Amino acid sequence: MPMMSRRHLMLAATGAAAIAAAPRFAFAQAAAPAAATPFVLPPLTYPVAALEPHIDAKTMEIHHGKHHAAFIGNLNTFAKDNPTIATMSPVEVLGKLGDVPEAIRTGIRNNMGGHANHSMFWQIMGPNGGKPEGEVLAAIDRDLGGMEKFTTDFNAAGGRQFGSGWVFVTVDKAGKLAIETRPNQDNPAMDGKRALMGNDVWEHAYYLNYQNRRADYLKAWWNTVNWKVIGERYAAAKAGTLGV
Ligand SMILES: [Fe+2]
Repeated sequence: MPMMSRRHLMLAATGAAAIAAAPRFAFAQAAAPAAATPFVLPPLTYPVAALEPHIDAKTMEIHHGKHHAAFIGNLNTFAKDNPTIATMSPVEVLGKLGDVPEAIRTGIRNNMGGHANHSMFWQIMGPNGGKPEGEVLAAIDRDLGGMEKFTTDFNAAGGRQFGSGWVFVTVDKAGKLAIETRPNQDNPAMDGKRALMGNDVWEHAYYLNYQNRRADYLKAWWNTVNWKVIGERYAAAKAGTLGV
């Protein structure tokens, strides 16, 4: 995405050594001239109806075009006075929330978390998503007890999450997987992990079609999962290059 490109340009301009020597980022200072709206809604790579009947087109349209877009709009508002947030990747910002000025910290936590979570979510879904294979399947067998236990445990965790939040499969640098939930729009990057994949259990993700039947949504959602992308994300996580 454009933001990542700018980050790479910034790294190239300043040098990785300089970044490594500055463990705390100066959020209150403008690091570079910023675009008026540096955050951009990542487009869906498939039509909004592509996940039907499991996720209906109207839900996708509102979820992506209104909910995710609202996070983008809010981040662009924050970036006017705090342009540094747009020069770092979302996972870097979320990993250093303590460095964000207190006045905007909750807003950045919610909106950058929402941007990161939803960017992941659109990526790991798609039509004709295939089946898990290769290294990621081996990791599921090793760490999560195989596909049947994994899907049962994942759905149970998503069902137990009280109120709004997410159920994730987190991955650490060694490639170890774990099922973990987070409230609100919190993201595993906030505690140094990465989301390999995850399901949104906010009511806005399913209410039009499933109403209060979250368990039915959790079960049907597996039909939308894009295992090719998740396999690629697993390889990137092990290489240390997985972003959102
Ligand atoms: Fe959502």
